[in-house]
Amino acid sequence: MVTNEQIKTNTALVAPRGMPMSNVLLVTTSPRGGDSVSTKLAAELAARLAKKSGASLVTRDVGAKPLPHIDVDFVVATRSGKTDLSAHEKAALDRGMEIVGEVKAADIIVIGAALINFNATTNLKGWVDHLAIPRQTFQYGASGAEGLVTGKKVYVVTASAGAYGDGPGDYLKPWLTYALGFVGMTDVEFIRVDALAYGPEAVEKSMAAAAARIEAIAA
Ligand SMILES: Cc1cc2nc3c(=O)[nH]c(=O)nc-3n(C[C@H](O)[C@H](O)[C@H](O)COP(=O)(O)O)c2cc1C
Repeated sequence: MVTNEQIKTNTALVAPRGMPMSNVLLVTTSPRGGDSVSTKLAAELAARLAKKSGASLVTRDVGAKPLPHIDVDFVVATRSGKTDLSAHEKAALDRGMEIVGEVKAADIIVIGAALINFNATTNLKGWVDHLAIPRQTFQYGASGAEGLVTGKKVYVVTASAGAYGDGPGDYLKPWLTYALGFVGMTDVEFIRVDALAYGPEAVEKSMAAAAARIEAIAA
């Protein structure tokens, strides 16, 4: 159980009880289950990276098991300084700290991200909402915001029917880049598997490029 006192005083967190100190964290977010391209490729990359370095692999599948929306209990528990938290507030805080603990315990984070209606899934947004806890993953000072989750390598495998490049239509990449950077994760590489609705040739080209990049990273 993490108390609001610990949050206020920025007490160092360890991984949740029973969870090994992981080196690789796989976060999957697609609502498409076994058909998901981003889940499949992100899982492959995470497994290969874990195997390569003899690290343990922790999986958080918010696509299959979405976190609840953050609510007033979460906001009170993480931002008000209240110490005598209600049972609901404690539960909301614990949920957030579990996500924070998993990220802090990881050296490498691999995120599988489907492009849904031009942005991240609400599942991925919910994961970020739980991760962004003041004095745990970010803090404000005289010179602005400071991310506290530093020293991580992040890979994001995205999948989309269309191909947007850096133009409008894909708000997942710029948003996630900014959100991860806000909490201190600035070393982020995107592997984009796009044009999946453009026919067999385009799919083959896109999948081959992703496979080659995964091969190079995991070699
Ligand atoms: C509800 C829904 C909305 C989608 N919206 C978009 C979109 O805005 N742009 C796009 O290029 N593809 C869109 N797609 C296609 C998905 O991005 C594509 O199926 C991709 O493979 C999803 O990632 P996944 O395979 O990891 O699930 C959408 C698919 C679904 C099911």
